[in-house]
Formats: sequence, structure tokens, C-alpha cells
Amino acid sequence: MAKLAIIYGTGFGNTGIMAKAIEEGAGNAGLDVVIKKVEEASTADVEKADAIAIGSPTYKGAGMPTVIKFVEALAKLPLKGKVGAAFGSYGWSGEAAGVINKMLKSYGMDVIEPDLRIKRTPEGEGVEMCKELGKLIAKRLKNEF
Ligand SMILES: Cc1cc2nc3c(=O)[nH]c(=O)nc-3n(C[C@H](O)[C@H](O)[C@H](O)COP(=O)(O)O)c2cc1C
Repeated sequence: MAKLAIIYGTGFGNTGIMAKAIEEGAGNAGLDVVIKKVEEASTADVEKADAIAIGSPTYKGAGMPTVIKFVEALAKLPLKGKVGAAFGSYGWSGEAAGVINKMLKSYGMDVIEPDLRIKRTPEGEGVEMCKELGKLIAKRLKNEF
């Protein structure tokens, strides 16, 4: 079974809601999913995965320093060809997901476009978009798009 690692930071829980909805969508699509807050994650989680989804809210026009640091540490791994996705909750400008998306691309990953940004707390349609991203990751791993 193909493996997805979802690793995220969250201040108030909104990006965490996104992460859990992505987990649900990916699990329903048949992926073996590991979900961790960035504080509990290690680069080994990424090494073991076929796809990674990295989430961070935007604070002061940037990603959470803990998440950005984690993504920087991935530079030393052989990630070329693995599937990547970036997501995050935001209030008004939402830079974080875009920054992570670019970093994953710079590692030669097969990054799903566009990154997923949800304003404030995901509800209804926003939760569905997150589940859909989980499904899309599964499809990309099966080379279906
Ligand atoms: C101190 C602070 C700074 C913030 N700066 C930004 C910002 O620069 N751009 C933005 O889009 N949202 C900003 N936000 C809003 C958060 O991104 C938003 O509340 C988001 O839903 C938080 O996600 P989380 O619950 O996963 O931490 C800021 C919020 C706080 C409390």
C-alpha cells in the first residue's frame, strides 16, 4: 500500500483540521496515512513515505518557523519523484503554503498544483477541498493524472 505522511504545524487548530480532512480523503482512497504534528515528526517519516503533504498556517507573512525548518531539513533527502503537496490556513495573505510548495518543487518533487489554502476555520466546502486533496494525492501516486 502506498504511504502518505502528513506533517503540519498549527497555532489554533485550523491547519490541523485541514490535515485531518486530508487524512480522511487519502485513507478513503486507499493510502496508508501517517499524520504528525511537526514537533513529533522526523525526516525518517518522510523517507518512509511515497508522498508527503506539509501544512503550515501563515503568521506575519510567512510559514511557521518550525515547519519551514523541517522542510529545510528535507533538502538532504532523495525526494526526486516523490509526490508532494502543501496546505495551510490563513487570515488575509496566506503566503505559507506557497513558500512550502516552492521548496518541495526545488527538491525535484512531483508537486500537486495549486497548493491548498483555506481561510480561517475550514468548514463544509473547505473540508471537502481538503478531502479532495487526499484523493488527488492517491490518484497521482497511481499515475492517474
Ligand atoms: C499574530 C498573528 C499573525 C498573523 N499573520 C497573518 C499573515 O501575515 N497573513 C495571513 O494570511 N494570516 C495571518 N494570520 C492569521 C492566521 O493565519 C489564521 O488565523 C489561521 O487560521 C491560523 O491557522 P492555525 O489555526 O492553523 O494556526 C495571523 C494570525 C496571528 C494570530
